Amino acid sequence: MGKIVIAIDGFSGCGKSSTAKLVAKSLNYTYIDSGAMYRAATLHFLQRNISLSNPKEVQAGLDSLKISFHTHHGNQETCLNGINVEEEIRTMKVSEKVSEVSKLKAVREELVAQQQALGKHKGVVMDGRDIGTVVFPDAELKIFMTADLEVRAARRQKELLERGQMVPLEEISRNLAERDHMDSTRKESPLVKALDAFELDTSHLHFDDQVKIIVDMANEKILLNTKEAWK
Ligand code: DC
Repeated sequence: MGKIVIAIDGFSGCGKSSTAKLVAKSLNYTYIDSGAMYRAATLHFLQRNISLSNPKEVQAGLDSLKISFHTHHGNQETCLNGINVEEEIRTMKVSEKVSEVSKLKAVREELVAQQQALGKHKGVVMDGRDIGTVVFPDAELKIFMTADLEVRAARRQKELLERGQMVPLEEISRNLAERDHMDSTRKESPLVKALDAFELDTSHLHFDDQVKIIVDMANEKILLNTKEAWK
């Protein structure tokens, strides 16, 4: 009763995914990583050598794309046509191409429709770039996360190291800055803060605190929603 949709948007490397995952866990909600969907589409296009300037090839790529999420030993895995690609979609090879793929209208239309279907029963926390503006403009709680570029680059480097990839800080900073630029200036669903989103700067926040801030706000909204439903 009173389930809501929580949209978490923001720049690359703000810690949206790790925050959203824990928020979902503490509310017993489903976490959906929309960025993983764009990454899986990008990997699929790379594997098939799809020319992004050829609409027919792009459409054929989308027609043969099947993305699903599975939980294995408590960890969420992204599957591309039935194969676990969770590690591969986080490599720099995919990161370098993902903004180009995600600016294509046909790609966005397809993935937005899938995301809306995944959230139609509410009780979801979805993170991305256009969740509060395009995917769920009526989401009950919208968060727009930000953090300084240096902080984001250092966090991303640590994350990659934990996955066994050593990438120089400058390379990560450059990739984040390029993606910020492409994501916020593209024609289709650019990254912008929804008017009714709460801006959360996490540069100097402890991870646990940023999770708690969002969970507390969510609980307030859930209570409101439950009261509404009883009226
Ligand atoms: O959240 P992430 O860094 O894993 O996302 C990878 C890329 O996917 C990001 O650079 C832009 C794109 N993306 C998007 O365009 N819209 C979303 N809702 C989520 C991600």
